[in-house]
Amino acid sequence: MENQIDLTVDGGRRTLSVDTRTTLLDALRETLGVTSPKKGCDHGQCGACTVLLDGRRVTSCLTFAVAQDGSEVVTADGVHDGDDLHPVQEALVEHDGFQCGYCTPGQVCSAIGMLDEAKAGWPSHVTEDLRAGIELDEEEIRERMSGNLCRCGAYTGIVAALAEVARGETGRGTDEEARA
Ligand code: FES
Ligand code: FES
Repeated sequence: MENQIDLTVDGGRRTLSVDTRTTLLDALRETLGVTSPKKGCDHGQCGACTVLLDGRRVTSCLTFAVAQDGSEVVTADGVHDGDDLHPVQEALVEHDGFQCGYCTPGQVCSAIGMLDEAKAGWPSHVTEDLRAGIELDEEEIRERMSGNLCRCGAYTGIVAALAEVARGETGRGTDEEARA
């Protein structure tokens, strides 16, 4: 059964017809030609398809498009500010936080969502003191980004990049400084 839905995708209004069984990932990639979110596992296990849905990170392969009528979707293609990369993108470049790049759009969206969650005080599995503020140290970053796999194993650079962004020092400093 086909349904017409409206989405805002990376700032542009899109109207499309989707089968009720179509995932948001397939609607973006196959129907709208928005190929920034990647299909890795198609089972919610790799994070390559992560987008920001009304500001929160979701695995778009586990989300039905028809349920998102009227929602705002932001992919890694839509997080930049004019000619300027998003601070997360800039830091990933600075710290070699990718190799083949297949997981990177999902890492970018997940990281932006993760930073907002931490700022809002959401605890993670490894947060010890629920009354203290969230300090995004390496353990917290690895836990909070554990839904995003990288087959190239660029985790060291990813963690260093996100630690730097968390400290508000985007795009500057060395890996050693970021890990200090
Ligand atoms: S493709 Fe969605 S989590 Fe792997
Ligand atoms: S950079 Fe290749 S899978 Fe992550």
